[in-house]
Amino acid sequence: MDILHPSVTEYLTNLVPPRHPELQKMEAYAEEHDFPIIGPICGHMCYRIARAIDAKRIFELGSGYGYSTAWFAKAVQENGGGDIQHVVWDNELSTKAREHLNVMGYKDLVRYTVGEAIQALSVATGPYDVIFMDIDKQDYPKALPVIHEKLRVGGALIIDNMLWSGRIFDQKDTTPETKGIRETTGMIMNNDRWVASIIPIRDGLLVANKMK
Ligand SMILES: C[S@@+](CC[C@H](N)C(=O)[O-])C[C@H]1O[C@@H](n2cnc3c(N)ncnc32)[C@H](O)[C@@H]1O
Repeated sequence: MDILHPSVTEYLTNLVPPRHPELQKMEAYAEEHDFPIIGPICGHMCYRIARAIDAKRIFELGSGYGYSTAWFAKAVQENGGGDIQHVVWDNELSTKAREHLNVMGYKDLVRYTVGEAIQALSVATGPYDVIFMDIDKQDYPKALPVIHEKLRVGGALIIDNMLWSGRIFDQKDTTPETKGIRETTGMIMNNDRWVASIIPIRDGLLVANKMK
């Protein structure tokens, strides 16, 4: 189930400013191979958030072949430079990401780790300005304490798929993924350490700021 009416998606997509041809190539690949990238509307939102808080250090959990990474890299480059950590457990995706991101001129900005993302964050040297999560959904709850520890106060946590194609509304759906998303929502929304909103674009993008 699409959360947004297709005409709204089309309208919002057309409002996203022109994109690098390589980014468009990555979008076409996702479409053709049914690979779940965040897409241009959420990508542009991620970029905008990173620009707005002058992010220089960004950590991604679950980076795929680098589409979301490219939006963050654009923001960091325009913010004067820094580093973006690309993490995925599949070596082929990591290599592919490196190729795409090099073409876009982000060679010196992006660092690559092939491995489990929560483990990689737990040993990374924080603090980060933005942490973006797009890993397997049943693992979202256990990532949260590590994210909280590594994010700076005032930094932004962005999480994809928080409306999960509407499955979160179906009380009969008790799959580990759906439960993981519900639990994560509760952990963030009922917690004075975070101020958060779920933006109903694409599959639901949670944007939270760490308050303490
Ligand atoms: C949804 S895709 C990422 C899409 C990417 N964020 C984008 O928008 O371009 C998630 C990727 O992370 C990988 N992944 C899932 N859980 C992971 C974990 N715990 N650690 C590392 N990689 C993970 C998946 O195999 C998949 O390749």
